[in-house]
Amino acid sequence: MSFSPERRMRIGALISGRGSNLQALIDAGRDPAYPAEVAVVISNRPGAKGLARAEDAGLPAVTIDHKEFETREAFEGDIQKVLEDHKVDLIATPGFMRILTNSFVEKWPGRIVNIHPSLLPSFPGVKVHEQVLAAGVKVSGCTVHFAVPEVDAGPIIGQAAVPVHDSDTPESLAARVLKAEHKLLPLCVRLIAEGRVSIENGRTLVDAHPGEFEVFSPLL
Ligand code: GRF
Repeated sequence: MSFSPERRMRIGALISGRGSNLQALIDAGRDPAYPAEVAVVISNRPGAKGLARAEDAGLPAVTIDHKEFETREAFEGDIQKVLEDHKVDLIATPGFMRILTNSFVEKWPGRIVNIHPSLLPSFPGVKVHEQVLAAGVKVSGCTVHFAVPEVDAGPIIGQAAVPVHDSDTPESLAARVLKAEHKLLPLCVRLIAEGRVSIENGRTLVDAHPGEFEVFSPLL
């Protein structure tokens, strides 16, 4: 999948809360040379801070409250319609706290990117930083990957590493990882939009320039 400079890749962002990773994508898109732009933001939680971020940026901000639907399929049907209405090419799910059905994920093969605040496949799921600290690992980080039906799995596009300090709390570690997330997600979306990511046998092949990823792990 690659896109011409005349038509930037259109991102549909699914969020549930704060939306700081969404903000990183919005900010990246302010540069006309960046090959992607956020086209629409959908939150399953009314009043999510990320919706206000979208509005501040002049972007369409849509609430689709999962609680108003009888089934996940009906909820996702409304999401699909909004994504189609806004001609979305790529879905990003930073901080989206609903599990997507297999049939939704299969409708968007290689076109849903998720960010997870650990070095997958270690520490999937929730309470990630608590898991990391309990395990005593000395390095953590974040992972951007394509979504597949299994949660927190799927071909890895990029990872950034940060140190874990003995004095860390889940909050201090989360803050350090989040800073890396804000750089990694726009980079990975750029790589996809520039046609530099392909999927082969469940893995990605990434045509990154030397040093393009290393800049994210300066402390190691
Ligand atoms: C991020 O740490 C992301 O990795 C995780 O949830 C958090 C969302 O933060 N899935 P924000 O809403 O992007 O600020």
